[in-house]
Amino acid sequence: MKHVSPDDIGRMEKIFRLNLINSCTGYKSANLIASKSKTGNPNVAVFSSVTHLGSNPAMLGFVARPLSVARNTYKNIKETFYFTVNHIHEKMIEQAHQTAAKYDEEISEFHKTGLTEQYLDDFQAPYVEQSEIKIGCKYLNEYAIKENDTVLVIASIEHIYFDESIQMPDGWLRLDDAGTVAIDGLDGYSLPSLLDRFHYARPDEEVKSFFKNETT
Ligand SMILES: Cc1cc2nc3c(=O)[nH]c(=O)nc-3n(C[C@H](O)[C@H](O)[C@H](O)COP(=O)(O)O)c2cc1C
Repeated sequence: MKHVSPDDIGRMEKIFRLNLINSCTGYKSANLIASKSKTGNPNVAVFSSVTHLGSNPAMLGFVARPLSVARNTYKNIKETFYFTVNHIHEKMIEQAHQTAAKYDEEISEFHKTGLTEQYLDDFQAPYVEQSEIKIGCKYLNEYAIKENDTVLVIASIEHIYFDESIQMPDGWLRLDDAGTVAIDGLDGYSLPSLLDRFHYARPDEEVKSFFKNETT
């Protein structure tokens, strides 16, 4: 098995290191964060750091890169408080990836990529119409990650939209039925398929599958 040491990492060419370090921690969520500036310019960009933070209260977070250059998503959220998180679907990966391009603030990535703005229930921020799962969020707080000048943005979950057919009776969303993709590194888009689902794990009890009668 190949071994990479801190010295090796330090000596790596920049892009090689970025590709290795971004992929070695595993698959990441694939989302488009959409927002609007206070002057009304819509914005949408791909983010792989959106993560669940807690279910009661329902919260999520994402990591914003260093603010040394213009970051429209972060700026819009600080100005207006509202944004949406929209799952990247297998049929929209090219358009979603293109939203990472550095467009000027007044240019809408919606317009440039063919993704469609959608407004639901008077929520101020746009959703992405093509997304199968969409979440309306409100900024709550942020924490500076001093070690690399990034910011962890914390938000409350205000609205969730999805097709009822992907929800199981116990609340769980079957993401492979929604065609939601996962991100490998900074430019790889994968389509995971569900292997199994298990009951709550307890010490010394056999693992019980939701789908198979036999224990695994
Ligand atoms: C696959 C992928 C994942 C990304 N994830 C993040 C992320 O988690 N946080 C971040 O700040 N930027 C991330 N980016 C970069 C933003 O998409 C990029 O900086 C974009 O231009 C930001 O747009 P904005 O200035 O409109 O906010 C990612 C880019 C790609 C291609």
